[in-house]
Amino acid sequence: MDNQFKLLQERLLEELAKVKTMNELHETKALFLGKKSPIQELFARMKDLSIEEKKTLGQKVNWFKNYVEEAIAKKAEALEQAQIIAQLESEAIDVSLAGIAFSLGNKHPLTKMTEEIEDIFIGMGYAIAEGPEVELDLYNFEMLNLPKGHPAREMQDSFYIDGNTLLRTHTSPVQVRTLLAAKQQPVKIICPGKVYRRDYDDATHSHQFMQIEGLVVDRGITMSDLKGTLTVLMQKMFGSSLEVRFRPSFFPFTEPSVEVDVTCFKCKGHGCSLCKNGGWIEVLGAGMVHPQVLKMSGYDPNEFQGFAFGIGIERLTMLRYGIDDIRHFYTDDLRFLKQF
Ligand code: PHE
Repeated sequence: MDNQFKLLQERLLEELAKVKTMNELHETKALFLGKKSPIQELFARMKDLSIEEKKTLGQKVNWFKNYVEEAIAKKAEALEQAQIIAQLESEAIDVSLAGIAFSLGNKHPLTKMTEEIEDIFIGMGYAIAEGPEVELDLYNFEMLNLPKGHPAREMQDSFYIDGNTLLRTHTSPVQVRTLLAAKQQPVKIICPGKVYRRDYDDATHSHQFMQIEGLVVDRGITMSDLKGTLTVLMQKMFGSSLEVRFRPSFFPFTEPSVEVDVTCFKCKGHGCSLCKNGGWIEVLGAGMVHPQVLKMSGYDPNEFQGFAFGIGIERLTMLRYGIDDIRHFYTDDLRFLKQF
């Protein structure tokens, strides 16, 4: 009898060594403990034995059952482990493989210019404001001292959405929005953004372009603050040897108004094709905020003064890099864009 168990034990170990899957394991278990297994046969034979024999056989059978169950459980655990390891191996990523290289793009020249100007003004304590591109006639014109029918509206031919709404023709409506929101507190902001005019597109005009508006309102602001600020801006952008000239001009929302020129950075003022032999290049419009504009937005012009300016970003970028056609900015030609 003992010999029989030994044989069974050996067979079990042999069978288990061959098992590779959970299914096979279940089959093996059935083979040794199931209905047709030798163990059941032994049980069946037990009724013919004496009590003493039954007892010893019963003990042996139980011992063997436990033995089989333990061996099966151990094997199940080993199979699970092996399966996890196999899965980990099959899902492993070879980090040493060469990857697919994506060529890195670069920022659009207009974005770069905008960010550069923003950095200069942030360094001087300005906040960055924003406003909508679909704007009320009220903010784009009326509250900037350009009432309906004012001839200066014609300088900025417009896309109207309806009688009261248009695509903003400049970033100046953000002046009004900022003043209304600040409720008689000092303000110091710049606002970059897109603007729209009903221009024919040619080498220097586009129906959509970008500006940066600047507005400072506080007590005791004078024209020299305006001059100093814009001189710093121009010298930071184009070099400190450059001179800045302020020429009288007209905007309905500033008084006095100026056009700002810088020494031509191509010929250093001697005269060339870029500056049309004048030695100067016009870069932006500016002025002292008109008292009427301050009043309309709730500020007392006897207490508050301010200055404002509007920079054409395309124009400045074209001057800086010697770009001869504004349309290069919008056609997304990589041969152009990759140069910046
Ligand atoms: N908004 C004016 C333009 O687009 C520029 C400007 C801004 C002038 C602020 C003076 C003050 O032409």
